[in-house]
Amino acid sequence: MQPTSCKPIPQMMTDFQDWSLLVQQRVETALDRSLPPADIAPQRLHHAMRYAALGGGKRVRALLAHAAAELCGANPDKADVAAAAVELIHAYSLVHDDMPCMDNDDLRRGKPSCHMQYDDATALLVGDALQSLAFHLLAQPGLCNEAARQLEMLQLLAVASGSRGMAGGQAIDLASVGQSLTQEELEYMHIHKTGALIRAAALLGAYCADTFETARVHAIAQYAQSIGLAFQVVDDILDDQADTATLGKTAGKDAQSNKPTYVTILGLERAKLLARELLENAISPLAIYGTEAQRLNQLAYFITQRSF
Ligand code: IPE
Ligand code: IPE
Ligand code: MG
Ligand code: MG
Ligand code: MG
Repeated sequence: MQPTSCKPIPQMMTDFQDWSLLVQQRVETALDRSLPPADIAPQRLHHAMRYAALGGGKRVRALLAHAAAELCGANPDKADVAAAAVELIHAYSLVHDDMPCMDNDDLRRGKPSCHMQYDDATALLVGDALQSLAFHLLAQPGLCNEAARQLEMLQLLAVASGSRGMAGGQAIDLASVGQSLTQEELEYMHIHKTGALIRAAALLGAYCADTFETARVHAIAQYAQSIGLAFQVVDDILDDQADTATLGKTAGKDAQSNKPTYVTILGLERAKLLARELLENAISPLAIYGTEAQRLNQLAYFITQRSF
């Protein structure tokens, strides 16, 4: 396996912001090393892949992979690989999500969306190529001490990103424009389009550990299910409440596009209450792990209380 770490993660580091920064730097390094250099042919595609995947985003999925890896005692160098793979799938999903045939958004991570900076065909290929690269990373020899578990990781990411996960959720999202969904239908859509990949991020981090502890992985799966849904509830709230400069993407886009969201279905106050409830649901299965689960706990608070 390629060494990706720039700095080791000190065991005693308690400050969440410092820890987040360190993980963000590590995943940036891992992504930078994994992406083909921009001066290698086809240069325009490689340039655009780097444009879409590097230098932006909160890296929440990478943080989740690392936090779960930490709870399971996994080597952070291995967690970097899982984190980078999930961030590549996520970056691909954003590139496609912004295209004119989907949400038609000009701005992403504070800069022109990939298809605006390049062109539609390039953006399409960027998504394709980032997705392939994610699986390439995850398939590298030695990521898991058991080959069977590494295959499970590949399957996990494939299901989470495919038609029974993110891509399926996106299809439902597009089919729901102008519809008034029930809360159950909305939950189904959000669990797929956003929750599935967030759940996979945490589980892939856990799977990097040499010893597989079923109880811990189960608690992480329960946590991730709730926090994955909470993530999209908050995204809906921020789309309605925050401004474009803070978000780095066009605010008010859901209302403009007539999309059903938690704000339109429940109203703002109930949507906020739901986020709070999902936070409680996420952290309660981790209670037995006390401070061992502090990163996952802190991340749950960050996800539900963020302003961008
Ligand atoms: C935005 O995700 C798209 C959703 C799934 C809601 P993020 O808010 O994680 O985007 P970045 O990675 O920080 O840009
Ligand atoms: C996108 O949801 C989810 C995926 C990219 C899979 P949104 O369309 O709400 O994401 P933003 O608000 O554009 O980031
Ligand atoms: Mg969308
Ligand atoms: Mg969008
Ligand atoms: Mg949104």
